[in-house]
Amino acid sequence: MGSIGVFDSGYGGLTILKEIIRVLPQYNYLYLGDNARAPYGTRSFEAVYQYTGEAVRKLFDMGAQLVILACNTASAKALRTIQQVDLPVLAPERRVLGVIRPSVEALANYSHNGHVGILATRGTVASGSYPLEIEKLYGQRFHITQLACPMWVPLVENNELEGEGAEYFIRKYLRELFAADRQIDTIILACTHYPLLRPLIEKQVPPHVNIIGQGHIVADSLSDYLRRHPEMDCRLAKGGKVDYYTTDRAELFEHIAGIFMGHAIKCKQIQICS
Ligand code: DGL
Repeated sequence: MGSIGVFDSGYGGLTILKEIIRVLPQYNYLYLGDNARAPYGTRSFEAVYQYTGEAVRKLFDMGAQLVILACNTASAKALRTIQQVDLPVLAPERRVLGVIRPSVEALANYSHNGHVGILATRGTVASGSYPLEIEKLYGQRFHITQLACPMWVPLVENNELEGEGAEYFIRKYLRELFAADRQIDTIILACTHYPLLRPLIEKQVPPHVNIIGQGHIVADSLSDYLRRHPEMDCRLAKGGKVDYYTTDRAELFEHIAGIFMGHAIKCKQIQICS
């Protein structure tokens, strides 16, 4: 019997894990944050693919049957190759899923006027994954403005979630976004780190604008996936256990993740490089 692996470059995936546990508390989870090599958002396609592949293999070795890439950058740059090239050789019966497709599917429930802002890392923006997926699903229905917010991940990784510094960088990117399209009525926080800055983001955004975080969307989509795939569901242990792993200092991870998850957590430092 195996677990569900949840992977991110660092703390951001906790915004997904927290919602997944809320919706599906019965499963066993392995959370892996590659904090030692974060951020991924500024790295090349090759580096993100290599690091993500190593993390997936590590999670498989640790017993994950299904891995969620709780990271937009990894979903944008590595998911397709892992699914199509690596998985059939490595573990054809296991699955790796991402966060972009479920977010795009949910978009139609939010935007009224079709003007959508995508805030993400440089890597996700440059990959063009969101505009491509949106066009595939909806044709020309949405007017998309993408913006990279490269300072937001370092704020989160350094636990700078409030204060003048954080406020400055949040204001700066949101001004740029609305200067590009004043009609935006929906923003996708297309980086799993960004919901940790949500209280400050909400202060800078007009009240009629919907802000979409991905946690509940990915959680609902996973729940639906498991209902449709009983052959996967029956391979997953149901012990309600969550184990946390980081590639950097465990005490620091325990401190920051504990604040975010709302309870103390225990974490182990591991190496994932081959
Ligand atoms: N949290 C990740 C994402 O959703 C990556 C952030 C980073 O490491 O740059 O894109």
